[in-house]
Amino acid sequence: MLAVFTHSNMPRMNPTPKPWSHLHPHGQGYLPLQDDKIHYAGQPIALVVATTRDQALHAATLVAVQYHAEPAVFFDRETAREAVDPPQFLWPVASSVGDAEKGIREGVLRIAQTYTTSDRHHNQMEPHATVAAWDAGGGLTLYETTQHLFGAKELVSIVLGVPIEKITVISHFLGGGFGGKAYVWPHTLLTAVAAKALNRPVRIQLTRAQMYSMVGHQPATIQTIELAADRHGKLTGIRHESTSPSSVFDSYIEYAAMASRHLWTAGTGISTNHKIVHVNRNTPTAMRSPHEALGHFALESAMDELAYAAGVDPVQLRLRNDSETDPLSGRPFSTRAIRKCLAQGGARFGWDKRTPAPRSMRDGRYLIGQGMAGAVYTHWRWPAKARVTLKSDGSALVEAGMHELGTGTYTVMQQVAADALGLEPEMVTVRLGDTRLPASHAAIGSATMANAGASVMLAAKAARDKAIELALTGREAPFGGSLPGEVVAGDGGLSVRRKNSSITYAQLLARNGMGELVADGSYDPVEEASGPNAIFSFAAVFAEVRVDPDLGLVRLNRFVGAYDAGRIINPKTARSQAIGGVIWGVGQALLEQSEMDPTTGRYLNRNYSGYLVPTNADIPSLDVMFVGEFDEQASPLGAKGLGELTAVSVAPAIANAVYHATGKRVRDLPITVEKIL
Ligand code: MOS
Repeated sequence: MLAVFTHSNMPRMNPTPKPWSHLHPHGQGYLPLQDDKIHYAGQPIALVVATTRDQALHAATLVAVQYHAEPAVFFDRETAREAVDPPQFLWPVASSVGDAEKGIREGVLRIAQTYTTSDRHHNQMEPHATVAAWDAGGGLTLYETTQHLFGAKELVSIVLGVPIEKITVISHFLGGGFGGKAYVWPHTLLTAVAAKALNRPVRIQLTRAQMYSMVGHQPATIQTIELAADRHGKLTGIRHESTSPSSVFDSYIEYAAMASRHLWTAGTGISTNHKIVHVNRNTPTAMRSPHEALGHFALESAMDELAYAAGVDPVQLRLRNDSETDPLSGRPFSTRAIRKCLAQGGARFGWDKRTPAPRSMRDGRYLIGQGMAGAVYTHWRWPAKARVTLKSDGSALVEAGMHELGTGTYTVMQQVAADALGLEPEMVTVRLGDTRLPASHAAIGSATMANAGASVMLAAKAARDKAIELALTGREAPFGGSLPGEVVAGDGGLSVRRKNSSITYAQLLARNGMGELVADGSYDPVEEASGPNAIFSFAAVFAEVRVDPDLGLVRLNRFVGAYDAGRIINPKTARSQAIGGVIWGVGQALLEQSEMDPTTGRYLNRNYSGYLVPTNADIPSLDVMFVGEFDEQASPLGAKGLGELTAVSVAPAIANAVYHATGKRVRDLPITVEKIL
């Protein structure tokens, strides 16, 4: 054994910075081992370092601890009554357009319900892990399971008081992130501090059980929705409020009510609000698809209830409340193909063959139910940089401080650069995942293609334009006398059709005595608030379930998702994203819940054995389609956010299908057998 660090001997760190920022994001503001307080079950109280993991784990069991117990507060419907107004985190906490109260009074049809969702954990296959190594010059290299290389670098610099240029963060691949690895958690900082104190590299890998309390989770929500409409189902008012737990020291907000700010219009007014309850637990965090996937369960379930109250088909109801302008800001949407999603998705599903009455469709002894839901998802905008180098052998190297969390980023970046340069993809090598590469944004928010992808495209086009310049004016210029606009890239080089003249990049560089040609790309998108248009992705999804009336078991039978994520760059990776998102949504709808002991505040199911996620046997073949078009305001690539959009509204579509199958409206996720029987 090498050392036991406790609050009494752990070197002190700087406090985590306020206000919270995506540029240097901490997962949890409170740092353990800095004082003798214990705020939540699972808070680390000591760090044991040994030369082997087995020695360290054994030594940790020998640490003797004395506790002084104090009463604790946990999240439930009772404590939710003590909810407070949190300070702003990502977006304004409350919103009000028009007069929602008046709109609700005006309606002849009214739905007022409470919907709840459970605590959930990311449960990535790969645990969080950090290797921290200091060099003789005071430089720190972190091999880190992170979705946000540069954010980690900045946060570590601030909290450890180490100059930013002395820090390198490396993360070439992840074995699952889902938002859980977007921010920096305390164990990363403790690893770096311990490595410094011991003057040797230190590695921490969280155990499966520690993954429940030492890093973030998705907080439960209690949401109340009021919808009011005229007798045709045209909305007059929407009121949506959500309450969720946060830790005693942080004010994490799950912006569930945000769904109601952007999806449907209401004639007289829409108001939304969020509250939090400070309880004794670790700080919650973003988990795919944060905010939207929770809020849509309430909104799109309530819309289904309204459809039944109005006697209007659920798809028709959505068409009636569609809007060309963003209900919150009043700005027109850049593109909004939700009508196409509804029409084409519905046609593919065969929605017109559905008989609307609950329990009216059967397959033998099984009850069949069909449900649908619409979806809107935020289009995140972050600056990104990239570099493209043309090499003397005619190949290209793409370098970007973006990284790969399993979505196919290496593949799509290669494709984008190859396309701009006119190279075969095999001729393009992509390097990601290192803060020594050009600075990019976090691999979160389904933002990579539109933002980091744009920076790669711009860098590749800049390299191509430099090559064109050489071909027009360089040594023995092959296109001398031509105009830049006449030159096209393709077949590994450039050509001017009018002259029937072409040259490869390899020849061009050799002719000019150049070993390589380097160009930079920088994408700096318009801020969300200041653009002329509101930019969002949209979807309509259709689910068919088969319910065993005796056992209450719900199985997904069929699923059709129609998505407007702008231009699709790679249909294969996009389809994989969509299938993964739907499966993620099935977990939310039917299986996932982190159960907490109401007396100790400990998570009970701290393992895959107790936390259920869908397996292959739970998932039928999924039918996904993309109906969006090039959106030039979203990105020079024309793409809008896709990945997380596909996990939004799976749960309400399934809940609505369960109602259609059984006549039971389940307003509490997940939909487990005891709620059906
Ligand atoms: Mo996602 S929760 O933005 O990684």
